[in-house]
Amino acid sequence: MTTDIESFKNLIRQRSGLLVSGLAEDILTTAIKTRMRVCKLADTSAYYATILADEAEFLELLSRITVNETYFFREPEHLSFLTSKVVPRLLAERDNRLPLRILSAGCSTGEEPYSIAIALAEKFGSGVSGLVSILAGDIDSHALARARQATYGEFSFRAMPPDLKARYFTRASPRAHVLNEEIRVLVDFRHMNLMSDALAPEIADFDVVFFRNVSIYFDPQTRMTIQTTLHSRMKVGASLFLGVSETLANDLGVFRLIEEDGLFHFVKRPLIAARSVPIALRPALPLAIRPERKSPPRAPAPAVVTLDTVRTLIRDENYGEAVTAVATLRAQSPTDIGPLLLDGYIHLLMRDFTGAAALARKAQELDNWSADAGVLLGLSAKWGDDTEQAIQSFKQVIYAKPDCWPARFHLADILRTVDLVKARREYGIVLRQVQAVSDPDGGLLLPLNLPLADVRFLCERHGQPFIQAKPGVKIRGA
Ligand SMILES: C[S@@+](CC[C@H](N)C(=O)[O-])C[C@H]1O[C@@H](n2cnc3c(N)ncnc32)[C@H](O)[C@@H]1O
Repeated sequence: MTTDIESFKNLIRQRSGLLVSGLAEDILTTAIKTRMRVCKLADTSAYYATILADEAEFLELLSRITVNETYFFREPEHLSFLTSKVVPRLLAERDNRLPLRILSAGCSTGEEPYSIAIALAEKFGSGVSGLVSILAGDIDSHALARARQATYGEFSFRAMPPDLKARYFTRASPRAHVLNEEIRVLVDFRHMNLMSDALAPEIADFDVVFFRNVSIYFDPQTRMTIQTTLHSRMKVGASLFLGVSETLANDLGVFRLIEEDGLFHFVKRPLIAARSVPIALRPALPLAIRPERKSPPRAPAPAVVTLDTVRTLIRDENYGEAVTAVATLRAQSPTDIGPLLLDGYIHLLMRDFTGAAALARKAQELDNWSADAGVLLGLSAKWGDDTEQAIQSFKQVIYAKPDCWPARFHLADILRTVDLVKARREYGIVLRQVQAVSDPDGGLLLPLNLPLADVRFLCERHGQPFIQAKPGVKIRGA
C-alpha cells in the first residue's frame, strides 16, 4: 500500500506549519525513503502510520526538511537597535529587578541567540547575565543539538566582525571554532514547536522576541496563528523582530508595526478582540477595545463628522471613536460609498474579514469599478486566507486603475507563494510606480498608510533576479 506525498505534506503543514513545495518536495520524498529504510518499513502507508502515532519519528522526518540556514550577526541592524534602544528602554521602564526575557523562536543551530548574547555582552560587559535571560527554541532537535555544542565552521562567521570572532571563540581545529563559556551560559535551548497547542506555559512573559526568517516557510493563516501565540507569550510593550524582508508581509493586525531609526519592528498592544464582538452591537462598540496609546489626550471629537475625521481616527488607531463616527456618517448619507468603505476598512483592521468583505461588496453594488472597494475585498480575502479571491480582486483593481500601486503591491506579495516569476514582475512595476510618490495611501480613500520606504525596499529586494542557491544550501522555492 502507498500513501501519496500530499498526505505527508498535509500532516507536516498541520503539525509544524511548514509548507512543502518545489525543491522541498523532492527533499521530503528522499527523506521518507531514508527513514523507511531505517525503520525497516517497506511501504509508505506503514511509514505514514508510524509518524502519525510516533511523535519522535515525525520530528526525525521533519528535521530532514527544515531549512536551517543561519549565521552570526545576520541582519545586524536588529542587534544594534536591541542593544542601543530596546534593552536600555526596557531596563529603565521595568518595575522589578528581574532580568529581561528574550526569546529566539526558530533559532536553528544557535547563531541567532548567541549573536544576541554577544551583542549584549559587548554593550553591558560581564553584568549582562543579571540583566537578561535568553531562551532559544526550534522544532528541529538536530539543529538544537548543534546549537548546544556551540562549535562552528567558517561559513557561520561570514557576516560577523572578525574582532568579535577573535574575542568570543576559541579555535579547536582548523575548521572548528568553539564559543566561549561566558556566552554559552547566557542562552538556554529547548525544543519548541510554535504550532503546538501544548507549548509549555513557562515559555512566556517575553520582553523581546526574535522570530526571523521562519515565517517565510508558512502560509498567511499559519503566520497569523503563530503571531497570536507569540503575542500571548509576550508582555504588553514587548518588541517582536522579523527578518527585514518579511516584516511588511507579517503586518497582520496582531501587533503594532513601528518604525524607529529607519527600522521596522512590531510592538505588543492589547489584542483587539474584534471577532468576539457581535457586529449587531455596533456602533456601541466598547471603548475598551481601543489600543493603548501613549500620546497626549486628544481634543473632543468635532461636532461635524466628515470622511477625513474617520480617516484620522483610523490612522490614530482610535477604532472605538472611528466606529461611532462612521455610523453617524452612514446614517446621514446612506447611499454614499465613502462611509461604507471606511466602515468596511474598520472591520478589516479589527480582523472581521467576513464583515469587511460584505461591506466591500455593498460598495461594489454602488460602483463596480471602485478601486477602494476592490482593495478592501482583496485585503479581506488575503488576510482571510482566500488566495484566489484576493488575486482576482487585486487584478480587477489593476485592470480598472493600472496606477493603483497598493493593489499591485499586495498582488505581488500573494504571488510570491504562487508564482515567483509573476511576483517579481509585479514588484518591478510597483517599484517604478512608487519612485516619485509621497502618498502612503496610493490615492485611495482607505487610509492604508503603507510605509513607502519599506515598500520600495521590498520591491527592490523581491523584484531582483532570483539568486541561485550555493551547492549544499537549501533555499525554498529555488
Ligand atoms: C531559516 S532558520 C532561521 C534561523 C534564525 N532565526 C535566523 O534568522 O538566522 C528557520 C528555523 O525555523 C525552524 N522552524 C520551522 N518551523 C518551526 C516551528 N513550527 N516551530 C519552531 N521552529 C520552527 C526551523 O527548524 C529552522 O531551524
